[in-house]
Amino acid sequence: MLILNQEEVKQIIPLSQIDKVVKCVESAFLKHGKGEVDMPPKTYLFFKKDKGDLRIMPSFSEELGMAGTKIVNVHPDNPKNNLPTVGAVIVLNDAKTGIPIAFMDGTYITGVRTGAAGAVASKYLAKKDAKTLGVIGAGQQAIFQIAATACTIKLQDILVYDVNEKSIELLSVELEKIGIKIRKAGLEEVSKQDILTTTTPSRDPIVKNEWVMPGMHINAVGADAEGKEELDPTIYKRAKIVVDDWIQASHSGEINVPVAKGMITKSDIYGSLGEIVAGIKIGRENNEEITVFDSTGLGIQDLFTAVMVYEEALKRGAGKNIEIF
Ligand SMILES: NC(=O)c1ccc[n+]([C@@H]2O[C@H](COP(=O)([O-])OP(=O)(O)OC[C@H]3O[C@@H](n4cnc5c(N)ncnc54)[C@H](O)[C@@H]3O)[C@@H](O)[C@H]2O)c1
Repeated sequence: MLILNQEEVKQIIPLSQIDKVVKCVESAFLKHGKGEVDMPPKTYLFFKKDKGDLRIMPSFSEELGMAGTKIVNVHPDNPKNNLPTVGAVIVLNDAKTGIPIAFMDGTYITGVRTGAAGAVASKYLAKKDAKTLGVIGAGQQAIFQIAATACTIKLQDILVYDVNEKSIELLSVELEKIGIKIRKAGLEEVSKQDILTTTTPSRDPIVKNEWVMPGMHINAVGADAEGKEELDPTIYKRAKIVVDDWIQASHSGEINVPVAKGMITKSDIYGSLGEIVAGIKIGRENNEEITVFDSTGLGIQDLFTAVMVYEEALKRGAGKNIEIF
């Protein structure tokens, strides 16, 4: 079994080459839209006493001949003990034999594949002449969202808001290293850009309906568990809502709270990003439409990215081989 640690994964897909991940994730959505992947919704284990959870995300692609399972935790109190909030691993199994062939860090892959989903959604749902990006939340996820979106959209201005200004400074330093400039702005101004990406762990709406302009596209990324939400739900009355996966989105995505309150039902959802990438449904139809992409994170995003990393690692002779059986 090939073992790849985070440093080895990063060497194969550095931030400056996130475009490789955007391509993988776009083909993952294409296969999802065509119904050519098998992916049960993610399973959650809640550790109430320890204030954390563990998510198990299996998926399989016949075309790749591989199955992948990501095991990922979210423990918000970990940083107090100098541990990361999120720590993920991905196991790849060869479909022919079922034997596990690779075990790799999934934390960095989670970051890049989530950024890539925002980039793919922006490519299909933002208006053609979109040139400004607003980002709310300047934490771990923001860097990947910005770097990936810059691959699919010619951005002229990137505005960032965070309750913690220090996070914006750190983000700015990291993005400068790959030639991307951002600027700090107020919450309302950030919320009014051609593309808005929200990536906070908020449990209360941050973006007001009155700030959302006709023609905007919103990537709602931060809500990935029950009770989380970042958008004023009245926005959905004016918007075309696109999900990555209805079951996941209705339980744990941006729409989970309005769904639980009965403000949104399945019939209010336009479709999935996969259906749009596959050409089964049209993406944006005019320059006035408001579009919202609810990203919960799919196992196939991890699988397609991890298979690319595995194949590249074999070519480079990277990682360590360990005999398990
Ligand atoms: N959809 C997906 O596939 C996916 C994948 C990974 C992470 N996530 C989610 O994205 C969110 C962000 O993850 P992260 O790793 O970047 O977290 P992080 O803790 O590194 O960063 C979050 C940032 O949001 C800021 N913030 C918090 N509340 C805010 C508010 N009300 N207004 C403005 N800024 C605020 C914080 O100061 C922080 O800088 C989390 O909820 C995480 O669970 C979703």
